[in-house]
Amino acid sequence: MRRMTLADFQKMKDEGRPIAMVTAYDYASALIAEQAGVPAILVGDSLGMVMQGQDTTLPVRVEDMIYHARMVMRGSRKALVVVDLPFLSYATEQDAVDAARRVMQEGGGQALKLEGGREIAPIVRRLTAMGVPVMGHLGLTPQAQHQIGLRAQAKEVQAARKLLDDARALEEAGAFGIVLEVIPADLAALVSKEVRIPTIGIGAGAGCDGQVQVWHDVLGLFEGKSPRHAHRFAEIGAQMVGALSHYVKQVEEGSFPTKAQSVSMAPDILAALTAE
Ligand code: KIV
Repeated sequence: MRRMTLADFQKMKDEGRPIAMVTAYDYASALIAEQAGVPAILVGDSLGMVMQGQDTTLPVRVEDMIYHARMVMRGSRKALVVVDLPFLSYATEQDAVDAARRVMQEGGGQALKLEGGREIAPIVRRLTAMGVPVMGHLGLTPQAQHQIGLRAQAKEVQAARKLLDDARALEEAGAFGIVLEVIPADLAALVSKEVRIPTIGIGAGAGCDGQVQVWHDVLGLFEGKSPRHAHRFAEIGAQMVGALSHYVKQVEEGSFPTKAQSVSMAPDILAALTAE
């Protein structure tokens, strides 16, 4: 089967079919997402935290996005792959074109995601005119966390009006979709009705046209609490720890490896060696 296109993505909204998107950051995760039938993958700059162990997404560089996008593209065949442009890489239109050129030519991926509303509309318009599909990102935009914090956004009337206006501006500028992160569910549902393009929610309720979740959250890879907007569909981290502890124990007690994992040698060759 061929890779999902922007037209297929739009068709899912038009036909009322919810879109499941998940982040992936390497070959193995992309392969697994593909096997699970995930229609859209985000190579998110959340990789700064979950793959690099940083406190925020801010240190992530264009080079990091290229490195991870390449691996994801090798593992995925059918999903639509969207790649984040990292912090400050699209400060001007020219910066955005330069970053887009590098991420798309060197990393692959079919589309880019940028955080921001009306203020980045000229950049979205320019990239779209150059043939670069752009996904917007509104609400809790982690690249602006030092300004807005990591809390729910657009809860007051003025901020909610602004978010609606931002969504319209992104659509007018040519964005093919918008991520809505941690905003009230009723507002997300309103935006989803207001714009024709698909909205993809994370902590934005069931009224969005699709959902996106972070790989490590949804699979329960890290011990402890996941963000409120995440649901742990499995506890893979605990399973991994269990499997590795078992491995350590068997090596230490000498029960691994067994003959099954070893290569044998003909007895006459061994005899000749030991006779020397
Ligand atoms: O970087 C990321 O993973 C994201 C999602 C949380 C939407 O932007």
